[in-house]
Amino acid sequence: MSTAVQSVASGRQSSRYAERVNPQWVRLLDLLEMNVQYERCAGAELFTSDGRCIVDFLSGYCVHNVGHNHPAVVRALQRELEQNGPAMIQSHVAGLAGELAEQLCERASGRLQKTFFCSSGSEGVEAAIKFARAHTRRDGILAAEHAFHGLTCGALSLMSDSFWSGGFGPLLPETKFVRFGDFEALEQELKSKRFAAFIVEPVQSEAGVCVPDPDYLRRAESLCRRYGTLFVLDEVQTGMYRTGKFLAAHHFAVEPDIVILAKALSGGLVPVGAVLMSDAVCDSVYSSLPRAFVHTSTFSENSLSMRAGLATLEVLESNELGRRAIDSGQYLREQLNAALGEFEMVKEIRGLGLLLGIEFQAPKQLRLRIPYEAFSAIHAGMFGQILVMRLFRDWGFLTQVCGNNFMVLKVAPPLVIEKAQMDAFVAAVRSVVELANSPGSFWSEALGLARRRAFGA
Ligand SMILES: Cc1ncc(COP(=O)(O)O)c(C=O)c1O
Repeated sequence: MSTAVQSVASGRQSSRYAERVNPQWVRLLDLLEMNVQYERCAGAELFTSDGRCIVDFLSGYCVHNVGHNHPAVVRALQRELEQNGPAMIQSHVAGLAGELAEQLCERASGRLQKTFFCSSGSEGVEAAIKFARAHTRRDGILAAEHAFHGLTCGALSLMSDSFWSGGFGPLLPETKFVRFGDFEALEQELKSKRFAAFIVEPVQSEAGVCVPDPDYLRRAESLCRRYGTLFVLDEVQTGMYRTGKFLAAHHFAVEPDIVILAKALSGGLVPVGAVLMSDAVCDSVYSSLPRAFVHTSTFSENSLSMRAGLATLEVLESNELGRRAIDSGQYLREQLNAALGEFEMVKEIRGLGLLLGIEFQAPKQLRLRIPYEAFSAIHAGMFGQILVMRLFRDWGFLTQVCGNNFMVLKVAPPLVIEKAQMDAFVAAVRSVVELANSPGSFWSEALGLARRRAFGA
């Protein structure tokens, strides 16, 4: 297909999507010059219809730990389909669900002995809320400020940033927030004995890739035990070897009562979620024969998700992707530090395994501060979006800023990322930051974007 024909085809796709799905999403991607058509994705590489190769440093927010379309996961799914097996009978014992649950619980270890399957991270958080309430007979749920737990009503109730909840009416009552890392504030709240669960991400992802002090989670766990609150870890982004270990909990030597997994569990190909929990929590919900199906979900144990989960675990482990996450994460952090250390706008580079964040700060030099403040006044995310746009358009890297902290560029490539790709990424980030450090085209482009946004708003 010629480029002209391709661009007409892709234009038609965009306009149909805008007409029938979400026009604002198309507008936003157009504005950021990121509305490309992806034709083929493999490993960390995304090939577009206009002949570009984009290297993925976002992984669909930690979905693609094994890389895009890993051949072993694809083959496992193909074989499952060809078998014509019991995909979703609902009135049977789903053998593959038992097999995957066994594998997950063995790896999670500690108290985590049972699994409830679902189809997304949010659905997992909803289940955790219900299970914790059933187990403790308390209604309250405590969460950390700036967390991201999902956008269904229950999960949304555990997110303090009003951007997500504004306009959607009242959410769950009896929820409260404490500052991440502050165990004194945590104890103050837990003392009331009103809370069924403290739900927290071991490393806060969308808050800005915040890694807690080494003893925070252990102390939080022991406070939860003291006051009869369940200690629940949302590992939707951090699980499945993203931080180097099967669960990020394993870095901090904690034993949660409930862990929520999703995203990377099925290799990025089929929706899935899993809520791992103690026997006691599970028994509180499925406590008698009439309650055998009191919490279920139509798609939860479907054979494609379960098969994809089993194949994904096998790929992660036979390729030692956990070890790679640790080694590559350390390499990337060192290289980024070396390349960006001299720029005053770069505040910190942090992370665990291959979940990294580059935090930026307002420039001090007047010549940069004036344009910076002008753009921040238009939208707090403007600076970060220009970085993302330039990395994409000029250098072929897909990234994003954190959802609850626009000053942190998230760096989370598939765990199969190669050294040459990391080196090229570091050079690209340096080049874009260098540009931002001079009062030239970076800022005039930002102004152009601000104007286009203002006129089209
Ligand atoms: C930590 C965390 N929890 C829960 C969710 C919600 O998952 P989902 O989008 O699959 O509902 C997300 C989504 O990004 C997440 O990052």
